[in-house]
Amino acid sequence: MKQFQAGHRIHLIDHKARHYALTLKVGEVYQHSGGFIRHDDIIGKKDGSVVKLSNGKAMLALYPTLAEYTVKMPRGAQVIYPKDLALIPLWADVYPGARVLEAGIGSGALTIALLRAVGERGQVVSYECREEFARTAMKNIERYLGGPVPNLQLCLENVCEAASLRDEAQHQRFDRVVLDLSEPWQVVPIAAHVLRWGGIYLSFVPTVPQVMQTVEALHQAKTFGLIHTFETLLRTWNIRGRSVRPDHRMVAHSGFITVARKVEKAEWELRGAETTSGTGMDEDFSIATSETEGGEEKSTPSDVESS
Ligand SMILES: C[S@@+](CC[C@H](N)C(=O)[O-])C[C@H]1O[C@@H](n2cnc3c(N)ncnc32)[C@H](O)[C@@H]1O
Repeated sequence: MKQFQAGHRIHLIDHKARHYALTLKVGEVYQHSGGFIRHDDIIGKKDGSVVKLSNGKAMLALYPTLAEYTVKMPRGAQVIYPKDLALIPLWADVYPGARVLEAGIGSGALTIALLRAVGERGQVVSYECREEFARTAMKNIERYLGGPVPNLQLCLENVCEAASLRDEAQHQRFDRVVLDLSEPWQVVPIAAHVLRWGGIYLSFVPTVPQVMQTVEALHQAKTFGLIHTFETLLRTWNIRGRSVRPDHRMVAHSGFITVARKVEKAEWELRGAETTSGTGMDEDFSIATSETEGGEEKSTPSDVESS
């Protein structure tokens, strides 16, 4: 059973599902809405307990999920929203043991998601040009992951000016490059150098001009194929009795995710293939639902060449 301990970050949640973050400290008092509760009265209780404030108000005490933690954690830079945070590790295909180059670290939300995906055997090398953001990010990361993180290497440097990344030693050193900074197109040549063959580039930008410049740079780099861009729309629903409808408000736009793979592009194009692609999702879904058996693809009549 997971019990609350001094030093841990928890959330108190009211009846309207509003979250209030606090770090438990022996002897401290948490004040809220005209009432208070001693931290000592929370420490030792189990995750998911109901606690009572001095004014009789009940609140739910929980360890936050990563999504909940990131929206409430102290910020230097704007964090990636949970809807994108959920998708980025999947579309960058970050797997246990992977070596990931990230820039910039910002407030550390994406870094935590990447660290969870690479696991203990993997590594995240993160570049950040602003020291104060890096400091906030490291605090956020270590607090969430419970202490120093040996497989995270922080480089306080502009990733575009990092001479070390252009070294022969860094050639093909990374499996994935994940960028959340304002000018990812500047990093594309570095990504081309440090990614291994078949490696994946992913960047996130909020505006159309940025995504245009990014995709243009990927085409210019002459080594990226299967380039595609998409955004995510997440709409929550109100389900209460017979009142079943979409919520009135949503975070409609956050940014564009662009993904590309390091491939033998010239050779590929020579054979008439397109460098830009869709996500391949439609095809994958139709194969998965109607044409696979035991994980093997079956041919349909139109696939069978007549002899
Ligand atoms: C939007 S924030 C990243 C937020 C982060 N992904 C998160 O989830 O918390 C962008 C960060 O990139 C950093 N940055 C911008 N250009 C950079 C560069 N060329 N090299 C390194 N860091 C850079 C900024 O200082 C800022 O901290």
